[in-house]
Amino acid sequence: MTYVVIENCIKCKYTDCVEVCPVDCFYEGANMLVIHPDECIDCGVCVPECPADAIVSDTEPAATQEWLKLNSTYADIWPNIIASKAPLPDADSENGREGKLTEFSPEPAEEIETNANRDEDSPPP
Ligand code: SF4
Ligand code: F3S
Repeated sequence: MTYVVIENCIKCKYTDCVEVCPVDCFYEGANMLVIHPDECIDCGVCVPECPADAIVSDTEPAATQEWLKLNSTYADIWPNIIASKAPLPDADSENGREGKLTEFSPEPAEEIETNANRDEDSPPP
């Protein structure tokens, strides 16, 4: 068993879920997160944290084969996310809008430039 991120995460990506996961099993794409099905310990604590109600147990009808496959596929490809960050800019207006699956991005989240890697990239003074 596992929990699954479903359609309403797309274009919201609030990331509150990440903060509470005891096993850090969320992975980040450009416009949604997914859960690694082999890492999730089925605790359910992320469910009430999501302002978009986008996390369900795989025992629920909303966790279709399509969503199970999408979570499993992209959890193997996208980077791990272990700390919350600002939601996507239109998160509140996108929350609850139907038909977002067609806007799903298979791209991984962009790496955030940190002071550390900015320094590395800078030319010597
Ligand atoms: Fe993490 Fe628990 Fe949510 Fe699974 S159910 S993703 S282990 S917080
Ligand atoms: Fe997505 Fe909800 Fe987490 S919108 S990023 S599943 S808090």
